[in-house]
Amino acid sequence: MNGTATAPGYVFDNHNENATDQHRFLAAAYDPLTTRGLARAGVGPGWRCLEVGAGGGSVAHWLADRVAPGGSVTATDVKPEHIAPAEGLEVLRHDITRDPLPEAAFDLVHSRLVLLHLPERIKVLDRLVRALKPGGVLQLDEFDITYGPSLLMPDDGARDLYERFLAAKIRLMARAGADPAWGRNAAGAMRRAGLVEVDPRPHLELWTAESPGVHLISHHTRHLRDAFVREGMTDGELARVRDLLADPSFRACSCAVYSVQGRKPL
Ligand SMILES: C[S@@+](CC[C@H](N)C(=O)[O-])C[C@H]1O[C@@H](n2cnc3c(N)ncnc32)[C@H](O)[C@@H]1O
Repeated sequence: MNGTATAPGYVFDNHNENATDQHRFLAAAYDPLTTRGLARAGVGPGWRCLEVGAGGGSVAHWLADRVAPGGSVTATDVKPEHIAPAEGLEVLRHDITRDPLPEAAFDLVHSRLVLLHLPERIKVLDRLVRALKPGGVLQLDEFDITYGPSLLMPDDGARDLYERFLAAKIRLMARAGADPAWGRNAAGAMRRAGLVEVDPRPHLELWTAESPGVHLISHHTRHLRDAFVREGMTDGELARVRDLLADPSFRACSCAVYSVQGRKPL
């Protein structure tokens, strides 16, 4: 499973100076949802797991603890430098679109916020299904960022700014080959890929200035600054978005996150 890879078009580059913060905010915002799902799947001692596009590695570490003794976790990423070593954890530089992947090898395959970004996501999904042992579980945790209404804003100007910010993010991601609504499409794609017992769980929450998900989108104004500017936002507007997201009166509905599990038939 060795490979050298680049990720053309992927908007959140792990070699960007903002990547460490991005992984920290992702873990704070979404690890509770992800690990609840993985626990529900029954992952435990002896399981062989694959974590695809592991990013900062927080889920891979959780899995490595969970499958001991006797289990193993393989964590892959095109840029895996942020994944700290741990016992029972193998870290690979690996492009899921094209590098070799063993077949019928894993009890669990998990990936969060990776297929969303990949134009080849259906081909990748087929590869993930082939990598599962019969009876194995695939869990995908994916956004639908096309949903996320503003609820209470300091004033109408702030509402307009927030909505333009979200619309620019949808455009810049789509331009890079992402499917901004992939979360809502994942369950159907998993069934078409041959999985059974497909179980999509949508998750929404109230976003305030204290929410880890809001810290993440505020951070996007820095991490994706150049792409936002290409979509017509100015540095002054991005600074105002950051102020708005830190305002104690800010209230919005989160984007939708879908945690979807399916099982490979025996
Ligand atoms: C949005 S981040 C999500 C990271 C992590 N899964 C999480 O949720 O915290 C997407 C990750 O996918 C990785 N990635 C992008 N394209 C990839 C590819 N073709 N194969 C493997 N990993 C890829 C990126 O380097 C990045 O670490």
